[in-house]
Amino acid sequence: MAKILISDPITPAGVELFKEAGFAVEVKTDHTKEELLAKIKDYDALIVRSQTKVTAEIIAAADNLKVIGRAGVGVDNVDVEAATKKGIIVLNAPDGNTLSTAELSVAMLLAVARNVPQGHASLKSGAWDRKSFTGVEINGKTLGVVGMGRIGTEVAKRMLAMGMTVLAHDPFLTEERAAALGVKLASLEEIITESDFITVHTPLTAETKGLFGAAEFARMKQGVRLVNCARGGIYDEAALAAAIRSGQVAGAALDVFTSEPPADRTLIELPQVVVTPHLGASTREAQENVAVDVAHEVIKVLKGESFKNA
Ligand code: MLT
Repeated sequence: MAKILISDPITPAGVELFKEAGFAVEVKTDHTKEELLAKIKDYDALIVRSQTKVTAEIIAAADNLKVIGRAGVGVDNVDVEAATKKGIIVLNAPDGNTLSTAELSVAMLLAVARNVPQGHASLKSGAWDRKSFTGVEINGKTLGVVGMGRIGTEVAKRMLAMGMTVLAHDPFLTEERAAALGVKLASLEEIITESDFITVHTPLTAETKGLFGAAEFARMKQGVRLVNCARGGIYDEAALAAAIRSGQVAGAALDVFTSEPPADRTLIELPQVVVTPHLGASTREAQENVAVDVAHEVIKVLKGESFKNA
């Protein structure tokens, strides 16, 4: 009987699917690296979210592993190259948290436009301060969306409905699709120079790491507000802090950080920065979706059936 290790928390619906399919399932989270190294050879499948780091070292020790399932989109915590070289399939669940992440992006955009968390914290602390938290409307403003995949597209649709003009940058976005969505296809430079708000929806790759740094912030409209519910590091964090301090960037709403939890709290401490601890996919619906989706695909792999790959 194939053995499955679920090493990060996933919703019970996913666990049940494995059991119903007749597999032996162990749910054990918070392994140390040594614990995982010692036991990984006993399993045919490993299911993770983002906490378990499936490094080349873990993969080298995984003598029986056939498949790694990521209950979520990003596979940046899995050494996909090492897994592939060893013939281990890496699967993700690319659809299940789209709407949750898009909705959080909208919430963060509105929060940074209207200083919602700052006003909340002020009132909770006992103050009644209506002067310090004047924000801006989003209606009639220009939003630059970088990355028009599933999540970027859902964000664009919602912000169009709230009266924004949307500039969209994505190498795979055609003029026809942009027109059908009601967005304007834009170069990165147009996004940089014309946007009142920018939101990024790309994975973190060699191309997108530091995509926005000091030079880009300097060319943005003064008072631009930035959102990131994708991956930390797309905005260079040190340069962003400097641009906020100088007033060039009015504020940022960040759900993701270069290291999580963030080792450097400079950005977090700035009053103009609104933060959440990587909550994009943290809804009941998204967690159920990704757990079920990944379980279905991993079961297919273990049964030798065709499956969707990452
Ligand atoms: C993802 O890649 O699916 C999201 O960032 C959420 C998560 O890490 O669970």
